[in-house]
Amino acid sequence: MKAGIATLGLLAGLLDGVQAQYVATDHIRVFLFGQTSYFSEVAVDVRNNTCLSLDNNLIDGKVQSVLVGGHNIWDVYQRNDEWYCILYDNFDCTGSEASMITVAGGTNNLATAGWGNRVHGLRCINDDPA
Ligand SMILES: *[C@@H]1O[C@H](CO)[C@@H](O)[C@H](O)[C@H]1NC(C)=O
Repeated sequence: MKAGIATLGLLAGLLDGVQAQYVATDHIRVFLFGQTSYFSEVAVDVRNNTCLSLDNNLIDGKVQSVLVGGHNIWDVYQRNDEWYCILYDNFDCTGSEASMITVAGGTNNLATAGWGNRVHGLRCINDDPA
């Protein structure tokens, strides 16, 4: 029983470490996933309120799933920050509501939202005023 508790403590510590690595005040790491058989995964570091264009990125136009600030859903669940990302259907991160979709933690299937293969740029914002 005691060993079990220690293991849990160690796990929580590891998750904290992972989180610290991917999430900072001024930037956050976002994982973009394509179709399995395609070019499947890209990690990008996005600075606060800065447009990151996927132009020249192999995953441009192939993004199917997104995870914000963690490499798996457990890491993302551990987050307690105010980051969210806006995905755009253009390279300049511009346009009206119809050109963007907001993702706070992650989304597993952009296609069901009509966003399969549509992402060309992203902007992430840290709403924490601190
Ligand atoms: C990030 O950028 C937004 C928009 O400019 C700003 O309101 C916010 O305070 C910034 N966050 C931090 C942590 O600097």
